[in-house]
Amino acid sequence: MPTDDLFKGKKVVIFGVPGAFTPGCSKTHLPGYIKDAERIKGKGVSEIVCVSVNDPFVMAAWGEAHGAAGKVRMLADTNAEFAKAAGLDLNLAVLGGVRCKRFSAVVNNGVVEALNVEPADAPTGMTCSLAEKMLV
Ligand code: BEZ
Repeated sequence: MPTDDLFKGKKVVIFGVPGAFTPGCSKTHLPGYIKDAERIKGKGVSEIVCVSVNDPFVMAAWGEAHGAAGKVRMLADTNAEFAKAAGLDLNLAVLGGVRCKRFSAVVNNGVVEALNVEPADAPTGMTCSLAEKMLV
């Protein structure tokens, strides 16, 4: 999906993770946004999007496993094009190559209003990009 279509005319919260089904992303990052979806959408957010460098089938299965439907839209950045274009790519040998840094952002009609990227020395950490820190 072109990012123009994703972001045009609405406020979107997007968060990126290093990989579907990895422990931190599955136990903490994605479930936090699913749990807080109503609170976040109550602040004028039309859509919450989870993006990962995985294929669409994996992203769909990951969303299904967590009951994401209607709460968090699962998007595959299959070839890391979004991660690279946004300067959020990360080489993670343990996951086989290029992935996405852990981050969150508020994008209003295509304009990035807030960007929280986990620090370079711990790019898969969970200090600033979790749901509980979003629109508090
Ligand atoms: C995680 O558990 O979130 C994770 C595992 C390996 C690499 C990156 C992230």
